[in-house]
Amino acid sequence: MKVLVVGGGGREHALVWKIAQSPRVKKIFCAPGNAGIAQQAACVGIKADDLDGLLAFARAEAVDLTVVGPEAPLAAGIVDAFEAAGLRVFGPRREAARLEASKVFAKELMLRYGIPTARAAVFDSPETAKEYVRRCGGPCVVKADGLAAGKGVVVADSPAEAEAAIAEIMEAKIFGPAGARVLVEERLSGEEASVLALTDGETVLPLLPAQDHKPVFDGDRGPNTGGMGAYAPAPAVTPDLLRQIESEILTRAVRGLKEEGVTYKGVLYAGLMLTGEGPRVLEFNVRFGDPEAQPLLYLLASDLVETMEAVVEERLAGVRLAWHPGAAVCVVLAAAGYPGSCRKGDVISGLEELPPEVTVFHAGTALADGKFVTAGGRVLGVTARGADVRAAIERAYAAVGQISFAGMHYRRDIGQKALKKEVRSQESEGRR
Ligand code: AMP
Ligand code: GLY
Repeated sequence: MKVLVVGGGGREHALVWKIAQSPRVKKIFCAPGNAGIAQQAACVGIKADDLDGLLAFARAEAVDLTVVGPEAPLAAGIVDAFEAAGLRVFGPRREAARLEASKVFAKELMLRYGIPTARAAVFDSPETAKEYVRRCGGPCVVKADGLAAGKGVVVADSPAEAEAAIAEIMEAKIFGPAGARVLVEERLSGEEASVLALTDGETVLPLLPAQDHKPVFDGDRGPNTGGMGAYAPAPAVTPDLLRQIESEILTRAVRGLKEEGVTYKGVLYAGLMLTGEGPRVLEFNVRFGDPEAQPLLYLLASDLVETMEAVVEERLAGVRLAWHPGAAVCVVLAAAGYPGSCRKGDVISGLEELPPEVTVFHAGTALADGKFVTAGGRVLGVTARGADVRAAIERAYAAVGQISFAGMHYRRDIGQKALKKEVRSQESEGRR
């Protein structure tokens, strides 16, 4: 069969890499892809948000399955458009994608179905929003309602900071119409985790729990990024906690939507805070996380294409996922300046001879004079498997040590939270 992957980041490289292993797949296209993806798929110069272009291409090539990576085309209704044309496509329809495209929609759904989340108030006027944060008086979180490329959330320490965020979002309109409404949320504390699941609108099949590393610097300092690295499985999400997240969060969301006439198909991603009172939803995403997809797909043993077909055909009941033993870690190598504006065109070296059990997924790369060069903020995702998280970390960083480009920076502590957890649980075992 012929598969088209939409997108061009590290997540899409991991998808292409995994899809290529399916014996059923004869040809993979990726739109627009990147220089690394081009080694495994035919990249076509159509942007991920050019729905007409993608549809025309899929029709002309008689693509059997289209897999959508990023949220923007999902929110714009790519799945509705492909289905209307009789084409098979993996991802939620526009109405279901509102779970990510509108934080107000998601919050209201969570309230209707008793899904645990931070308390929040919604405002469409900056004056009332500012008055509210002044009255609250403490730390809070300000969120633009719509899609803001992961930048629409400000965790504010004081009312003044929250007011400044409201002014930027609602008055200066730095995210355009996405900031017409804001949510002001209670600020939660705890460890964060990403729990992704496949669902066909009925059955919910969680993947291994993962953890992202959003801030740019070690120890979770500095501004937030799209994600500087991720690993799975995350021990912070114990098997009991995972069952609770599955039943009280993921299943309630999918069933709730179904009750309202919306069948959710694809990946449902819950961004969670593990608080002392239990897991709370920070956000829903309607796609694979980036970089969480890299370690998750690297660990998945099942045939991804078969699994995705089961989702599309609504026969996920009875499907079990198989995983490679151990853990996987992905360390993102970023370009100078990231997460601000970055320099491009630096030559990347050291990609030729990688140790076993390591794969480098490309995110922002291009080819110039036959050499890989930087072409985006997040450049590469060095991904390794090991018998446990410690072994995976060692392998990933050994490979990182071989790779270089001018201005390259990365976090040195990806996965360390898992090791700290190990030490703590050994200590508490010792006490028993
Ligand atoms: P989001 O894009 O909604 O996941 O938010 C981005 C980041 O902001 C999250 O990964 C958290 O670190 C932080 N965040 C979001 N909501 C809250 C909250 N209610 N309390 C504390 N931190 C939050
Ligand atoms: N890694 C966070 C996200 O994909 O939204």
